Amino acid sequence: MNEQELKNSNRESINPDGKRLRYQIQTFGCQMNERDSETLAGMLREMGYEPTGVLEEADVILLNTCCVRETAENKVWGRIGELKALKSRKPELILGVCGCMTQQSDVAEKIRRRAPHVDIIFGTHNTHRLPELIHRVKEERKTIVDVWETEGDIVENLPSKRVEGVKAYVTIMYGCNNFCTYCIVPYVRGKERSRLAADIVREVQELTAQGYKEVMLLGQNVNSYGKDLDPKTDFADLLAKVDRVDGLTRIRYMTSHPRDFSDKLIDMIASSEKICEHFHLPVQSGGNDVLKKMNRGYTKEDYLTLVGKIRAKIPRAGITTDLIIGFPGETDEDFAETLDLIEKVKFDAAFTFVYNKRSGTPAAEMPDQVPDEVKKYRIQKLIAVQNTISREKNLLELGQIYEVLTEGVNKADPNRLEARTRTNKLVLFEGEKSLIGQTVQVRVTDTGTWHLDGELV
Ligand code: SAM
Ligand code: SF4
Ligand code: F3S
Repeated sequence: MNEQELKNSNRESINPDGKRLRYQIQTFGCQMNERDSETLAGMLREMGYEPTGVLEEADVILLNTCCVRETAENKVWGRIGELKALKSRKPELILGVCGCMTQQSDVAEKIRRRAPHVDIIFGTHNTHRLPELIHRVKEERKTIVDVWETEGDIVENLPSKRVEGVKAYVTIMYGCNNFCTYCIVPYVRGKERSRLAADIVREVQELTAQGYKEVMLLGQNVNSYGKDLDPKTDFADLLAKVDRVDGLTRIRYMTSHPRDFSDKLIDMIASSEKICEHFHLPVQSGGNDVLKKMNRGYTKEDYLTLVGKIRAKIPRAGITTDLIIGFPGETDEDFAETLDLIEKVKFDAAFTFVYNKRSGTPAAEMPDQVPDEVKKYRIQKLIAVQNTISREKNLLELGQIYEVLTEGVNKADPNRLEARTRTNKLVLFEGEKSLIGQTVQVRVTDTGTWHLDGELV
């Protein structure tokens, strides 16, 4: 069967209950996985499947997994277990597990042994083979394990079923070459591979034509973009090209590595109207010994210099970060340096994590693992200090007028719309639904730790 026949193999297929075949994808982890799930959904749509929100109705269920921390993996194991009963009630159901977690060879094998009700196990490097895997499982009626050890070439022009709304994800590069010593991502996502700028720009143009207002350019370290291309290019040059796409309102990107954030990039962002003044710059720690053992490639002082440069050119920049406490060998002094760093930078917000051993990474083998009770104390202290900073920073916004892009209706309070400032602050305000997708001016009337309240001006 050729590729087109595979894609069309279910086109006219219907369920025993007379309905079209349906799928449900459950996604764990980061935006890269969210975007991959849109591609998986696109392939299923081309095969004739329709999405369903009702699990019991699904003919194909895919779990697109994450393994960045143990908690993420535990959630997936829990979900696999929950699906066992459904599979025994509905043996024709095809259950697939894919993504970062299965890319670890021992995990794929463990799923096969422990959860024989799973039909397909595949990894991050062969998501494009989903139609073939579904076809094979229907033919062979046995568990198919197909995890590629190494990354292949980037496959362009795969179909997508995007999340509808105002903003769209665009992956600009895959993989990571940084090998931070705590992190599993380079092992499960492969080495850095950049998409051609022309393909990225074309995708952004198509998205704009479909009505999306904002794009989020995705990569584990977007600052490395283009280093592997011939001729070499860089992220600032890519941004300049995306910036010229007519009809696009906003550009964001995720994630930048502080080591590679060039002056050229800061200038580019400062001079652009579309690139938002939000810098998510994961610092991880303020302790120089810890940063060195993490293989981050910068010191606390380098980081503070970078923040100074950004604020000198873009005074109202929003700056957020990721922090890990309890990395092996982290002393009280290192932790005090982290607290000092967050007081000095005054981040708008921070994602805080307790270090978690990931087998196969160098840090898992390091001596002086930090005891759980010390980790518990440090994470609570860190969160308390950062929350105070976030609240104080938000208080400074009272009375300010901001340009916000309205993204939708707030789930918790359906009477209000939610929008984001260019600096990525969430603003809630009362307004007509017709404002969704539009850029409006709001005045900040009240503030909390995580959001601002506003009114239209
Ligand atoms: N590539 C991005 C970067 O360089 O920051 C993000 C990588 S990861 C998906 C997101 C965050 O998870 C990291 O910034 C780090 O703070 C955290 N993280 C990664 N591995 C971890 C581990 N073993 N334990 C705790 N947190 C971890
Ligand atoms: Fe992990 Fe470091 Fe790569 Fe980010 S840059 S994905 S933290 S190895
Ligand atoms: Fe998780 Fe993979 Fe993202 S490990 S954080 S889903 S790249």
